[in-house]
Amino acid sequence: MSQSKPVYASFKSIGAYVPEKILSNADLEKMVDTTDEWILKRTGIKERHLAADDEYTSDMGAKAAKIAIDRLGISTEEIDLVLCATVTPDYFNMPSTACIISDKLGIKNVQALDISAACSGFVYLLSIAKAFIESGMKKNVLVIGAEKFSSIVDYTDRSTCILFGDGAGAAVISASELEEEKFIDVHASADGSYADFLVTPAPGCINPVSQKVLDEGLNFVQMKGNETFKLAVKTLTKDVKEILAKNEIKSEDIPHFIPHQANYRIIKAVGDALKMREEQVVVTVGKYGNTSAASIPMAINDIWESGRLQNGELMLLDTFGGGLTWASALLPFAGKSK
Ligand code: UT7
Repeated sequence: MSQSKPVYASFKSIGAYVPEKILSNADLEKMVDTTDEWILKRTGIKERHLAADDEYTSDMGAKAAKIAIDRLGISTEEIDLVLCATVTPDYFNMPSTACIISDKLGIKNVQALDISAACSGFVYLLSIAKAFIESGMKKNVLVIGAEKFSSIVDYTDRSTCILFGDGAGAAVISASELEEEKFIDVHASADGSYADFLVTPAPGCINPVSQKVLDEGLNFVQMKGNETFKLAVKTLTKDVKEILAKNEIKSEDIPHFIPHQANYRIIKAVGDALKMREEQVVVTVGKYGNTSAASIPMAINDIWESGRLQNGELMLLDTFGGGLTWASALLPFAGKSK
């Protein structure tokens, strides 16, 4: 009986879209009781980009996806699964943002779905793409992290409005027979007992749209910031140490550590715990803020566009977000160098 060759998931291409409008710390000083100095010291954020009023999550996701597809040099007809991670979908119930993105890209008759894993969404999608590809069900999976986070931010709440930005990142994950291109490992996990740490109470079946929702601002994101911060540092440090140990890879051998960009102090604490050198750690939070599911692919795109990310180089991704969810991944960049 002939044995078919194993098929591996490989990270073939990256793209991102950053909206034009900038919201600086100086702008925020005029909106809430805060200072540029406080924001920089506590978060590392200098500015974030916001989508235009008539620019939606699907628009940003479609633009990032188009770049990723064009860079790989395939046609949209070759995409056989469209996955979008977002907590700020165009519509909260239906249709999914992945369906709208597919339409905007002219992708027809292809399975398309959203997932909700907050900031962990993109790495969660990598695990799903890997399963679809390695089971032989799909060949070219479009994975998108896109957020118009400004649509759920209360710009009178200084504890959250300084943090978040809008944007999108996308990748094409393709089937490969080359073992050196394969995802080494993806780990994704969750603990719903911390659901109230990071929550948007409405709209949903608990709080359908009502006057009460509007009066109490239940449609805005709420976060137990300090508790989330401490748990993020502890969980990520443990998670990243575990994925490295399990795969017998030393932290000093990782050229690109690409963490979720929520707060520079979290990135630094995890990087220090892993004894990472500064040049190994990718930091974009200063210019984009926290873009939730878009943060990791936007950061990967940044180092690709600047020529820092080369074909074959290993990436270590880690992320933490609402749910609570967390995830990490070890994989080579299998696309073309710039
Ligand atoms: O992406 C998903 C995961 N999210 C995260 O990982 C975010 C995690 N959390 C954080 O990044 C940080 O907790 C924050 C940046 C949100 C807050 O920083 P913190 O060092 O944890 O501050 P805190 O919440 O303990 O607040 C310290 C003080 C408080 O004042 P008092 O009670 O000490 O008088 C706050 O009211 O800072 C005050 N404060 C501010 N002051 C000036 C909170 N926000 C601001 C602000 N400007 N924007």
